[in-house]
Amino acid sequence: MTADGRPVAGTVMPSLFDPVTIGATVAPNRILMAPLTRSRATRSAVPTPLMAQYYAQRASAGLIVSEATAISRQGLGWPYAPGIWSEDQVAGWRVVTRAVHEAGGRIFCQLWHMGRMVAPQFLDGRRSVSASATIAPGLAHTYDGKRAYARARALSLTGIRNVVNEYRQAARHAVLAGFDGVEIHGANGYLVDQFLRSSANRRRDRYGGEIGNRINFLLETTEAVVEEIGRDRTGVRLSPNGAYYGVNDDEPEKLFVAAAAALSSLGIAFLEIREPRPEDTFAKPDRPPIHPLIRKAFQGVLVLNSGYDGRSAQDALSRREADAISFGRPFISNPDLPERLRSGKPLATRDITTWYTQGAAGYTDYPALA
Ligand SMILES: Cc1cc2nc3c(=O)[nH]c(=O)nc-3n(C[C@H](O)[C@H](O)[C@H](O)COP(=O)(O)O)c2cc1C
Repeated sequence: MTADGRPVAGTVMPSLFDPVTIGATVAPNRILMAPLTRSRATRSAVPTPLMAQYYAQRASAGLIVSEATAISRQGLGWPYAPGIWSEDQVAGWRVVTRAVHEAGGRIFCQLWHMGRMVAPQFLDGRRSVSASATIAPGLAHTYDGKRAYARARALSLTGIRNVVNEYRQAARHAVLAGFDGVEIHGANGYLVDQFLRSSANRRRDRYGGEIGNRINFLLETTEAVVEEIGRDRTGVRLSPNGAYYGVNDDEPEKLFVAAAAALSSLGIAFLEIREPRPEDTFAKPDRPPIHPLIRKAFQGVLVLNSGYDGRSAQDALSRREADAISFGRPFISNPDLPERLRSGKPLATRDITTWYTQGAAGYTDYPALA
């Protein structure tokens, strides 16, 4: 094993059950919990004690990445999702992180700004913000049921600086709340992705146009977070393959390789790539996998996600495509997922109908194996 937890080339194959060093955090296994929005916070976006119980139940993950957590009121457009801009929210998260640590776990906070995906119901009629004045397709989940999105306002240069500072503040709050680090949510069609990909970014200034400009918002955000809490506590999630909420790109290979190379030079703790695989039941890829190119461009710890089971995850490690694999849906119904994968015991099936409901049902009532 090298100092950063990677096996020395030509020696034993890395196993899902080997430790890996992720910046300042040592993960005891390579089975990470992917970020999962579960809508169990309050209407003021304050984390609840039930969330502490849920995350503590999953403390055997090599590393938990929390559900997407809003950096500001302007950035939040999902019912009962948590935030990390107010004192109450920080206090609520402190209960969660303490419970995870007491159960022997590690937890990063996923920092979220939804950009144009915030419907007017969440903003008292104000407009959402994005890279450009575009409108998200489809309908938003709101407290009043499904509602249409409105056209976003393009962020001014001052507006961009303010949002970058909100990421910085959120990172500071995350450490105050006891998180081991943060993951910047750059995936799935939200604000960072709206800047990255050409279908949502029509700017003509230093944040738009050519690829080198479209990655600037991601890089400035990451630099601010790194400056605030350190590169060894900073991770990033990207989703290069497939369209999310109408956000897509003409040249994703070039774009995401450039982003990965730039993030590599910042020396962040890890990069997580959500890339649907052909057999995935959730999302579909729209081109061959991009992660092999990202693996070459990014020198740090690479985490792959989407549609993995124990066998395909181990295969990806054995082929050295990734240093760790994150699991989303399997962790919902299997709080002790690492032990199930280790022992080869069957996985519990999940109930989609309780993904975003409130309360304990379908949340904290999935048992661990005896
Ligand atoms: C209920 C649910 C909530 C999710 N919430 C988030 C989220 O908050 N942030 C995020 O980046 N991805 C989110 N995702 C995507 C997952 O992190 C993951 O990419 C996806 O489930 C595919 O991985 P899997 O095949 O292991 O489930 C969510 C997925 C599900 C099913």
